[in-house]
Amino acid sequence: MVKVAIVGVGFMGKMHLGVYTDKLENVEVAAICDINKDALNIENLQAGGNIKTEGTSIDLSGVKKYNDYKEMLKDGGFDFVDICLPTYLHADAAIDAFNAGYHVFCEKPLAISVKDAERVTEKAKETGNLFSVGQCLRYWPAYTEVKRLIDSGKFGRVKYAEFARFSVTPTWTWNNWILDGKRSGNAALDLHIHDSDMVLFLFGKPKSVKSSGVQDKDGSFSHISTLYRYDDKVVTSTGGWICSDSFGFNMRALYIL
Ligand SMILES: NC(=O)c1ccc[n+]([C@@H]2O[C@H](COP(=O)([O-])OP(=O)(O)OC[C@H]3O[C@@H](n4cnc5c(N)ncnc54)[C@H](O)[C@@H]3O)[C@@H](O)[C@H]2O)c1
Repeated sequence: MVKVAIVGVGFMGKMHLGVYTDKLENVEVAAICDINKDALNIENLQAGGNIKTEGTSIDLSGVKKYNDYKEMLKDGGFDFVDICLPTYLHADAAIDAFNAGYHVFCEKPLAISVKDAERVTEKAKETGNLFSVGQCLRYWPAYTEVKRLIDSGKFGRVKYAEFARFSVTPTWTWNNWILDGKRSGNAALDLHIHDSDMVLFLFGKPKSVKSSGVQDKDGSFSHISTLYRYDDKVVTSTGGWICSDSFGFNMRALYIL
């Protein structure tokens, strides 16, 4: 049995909590932490955000609860830390967890800046602890099937690929951090990273990329389209969260030719 401590039990933290308690037999949730006391009073696992799920009741009587993750790291009683904090807090929390001797699973995006991402990966290497980032599409059945088909060569080599991801504007986050480009990277980092990572996963590193998008007042992008340059194929992706409330959420590997 592997024991986990979750930091940040908002939309994604609750989703992870549900997966550990409902779906995975070899993981036990030892502790949860959230700066917001109300967020720790979880009686059912109704996920919010842009993924609606039915609420199932949950018993957290054996789970330790904290408001300060540093205190939680000191107390211990788990093997790895699952970071579901707002993006701008990922790097420091991951480094603190590594320094305290734990393995780390961190929600995407790994960090708010390249500099922060490098601080984390350097610390992971230095400690030798396990580290993984929740680029969930790499494990998503529809996308892993696309990967399997491409790698098999069954339909020949790919000449063109197009990915898309559209969402309502996210209004559900703590302190509205996600709509502040400085704290979230806006849709260009938060949402588009899924398809950019999938492009890397399927086709390797492109020679260059070119993006343009819809800018918010703070200069960050709430919708973005990218052309990934390869010698032997054309790859594009587009996505953002400027859709109206009735739209919901939609993601696709649209065409792979
Ligand atoms: N894999 C995916 O498809 C996916 C989907 C949504 C969000 N995410 C990622 O998950 C992360 C969290 O997003 P979210 O939508 O759950 O945000 P959220 O605002 O719903 O949840 C964040 C939680 O962190 C808590 N928090 C803030 N500062 C804290 C601190 N110092 N210590 C402890 N708790 C603190 C907040 O109270 C809140 O409950 C983001 O990086 C986001 O990009 C990934």
